[in-house]
Formats: sequence, structure tokens, C-alpha cells
Amino acid sequence: MAFERTLIILKPDAVARRLVGRVISRFEDKGLSLVGMKLMKISPALAQRHYAEHKGKPFYPALLKFITSGPVVVMAVEGNGAVAVCRKMLGATFGFNAEPGTIRGDFGVSSGFNLVHGSDSVKSAKRELALYFKKAELLTCAKEELKWIYDWADGTAR
Ligand code: RTP
Ligand code: MG
Repeated sequence: MAFERTLIILKPDAVARRLVGRVISRFEDKGLSLVGMKLMKISPALAQRHYAEHKGKPFYPALLKFITSGPVVVMAVEGNGAVAVCRKMLGATFGFNAEPGTIRGDFGVSSGFNLVHGSDSVKSAKRELALYFKKAELLTCAKEELKWIYDWADGTAR
């Protein structure tokens, strides 16, 4: 499994419902590293670029309205297999389908208001991270911190 970075967004419902701390804790508890973070309001132009793959779908206008409706927390999260690990932690798209134990499953029952976004592939993660962060805004986690998070027994982090 490769060291990866993924884009996580705590959507406007997560911020408005005061769930930011609890959701960030889920990623920290898992052993993933926060390497970028900002509170911002997503502009309509940025939302269109981010969700370009959904243009023309019935839920697209509502999705743009929702994601631009209030402040969000945007994060770059790093770790072993971070893209797939985070998607698993998010759970199924709709809260009412998402398994208990996942973020969407534990905190919501809505369809579209599903609290958190996570990149769906390594390729998407690269594209999305570049939309939200300049290179210099992404930091590297100190190796020392990772000593007990990864298995280094054979010399490489696993
Ligand atoms: P996300 O991109 O936000 O991480 O969510 P996802 O991959 O699980 O789901 P995706 O298919 O990419 O959909 C993006 C967001 O659009 C809203 N949505 N509403 N009403 C609907 O049928 C519907 N389908 C999708 C959700 O907010 C979803 O997260
Ligand atoms: Mg998606």
C-alpha cells in the first residue's frame, strides 16, 4: 500500500452542526496525518470545477447550492492507502444507507447532506487537492511522529 494524500471536506452541514472536532478526531484516531487545513467558503466557480463530473445530473444544482451555502473545512489527509481508507471511513453516500461506525452512518440520515467529502481515487485526489491548496500550503508530517503508527520492522513504512 502506498503513502497517499486525499482531499477531505467537512461540508456546510458538518460545520453548522458543530461536528468539526468530532469528525477530525476520527481521522486522527485512525493514525492518518493532517498535512493541510483551512476554513473557507467555496465559490460557485470552484464548486463547478470540483463537481464537474456531476454536471447535467438531476441533483447537480442542489449539490452546488449546498456545498456553497456556508463555511467548510478543507483538509489534506495523508497516510498509507489514505484515499481508500478515508472513503471507507466516510461510508455510503447517503446517511440512511451508511453503515454505523462510518462518519456518515454515525452522524446523519440525510441523502445529500452527508457531512463529508472524500476523493474517490488517487487520480481524483491529485486533481482535487490542487483545486484547494497551493503546493506550499501542504506540509510534510514529521517522520518521528509516525514511529508507532506504521510498521517499520523491515525498514519501510507499512
Ligand atoms: P462526495 O463526492 O461528496 O465525497 O460523495 P460521493 O462520492 O459519496 O457521492 P457522489 O456520487 O460523488 O455525489 C456527490 C454528492 O452529491 C450529492 N448527491 N445527491 N440526491 C442524489 O441523488 C444525490 N446523489 C449525490 C451528495 O451530497 C454527494 O455526496
Ligand atoms: Mg464523489
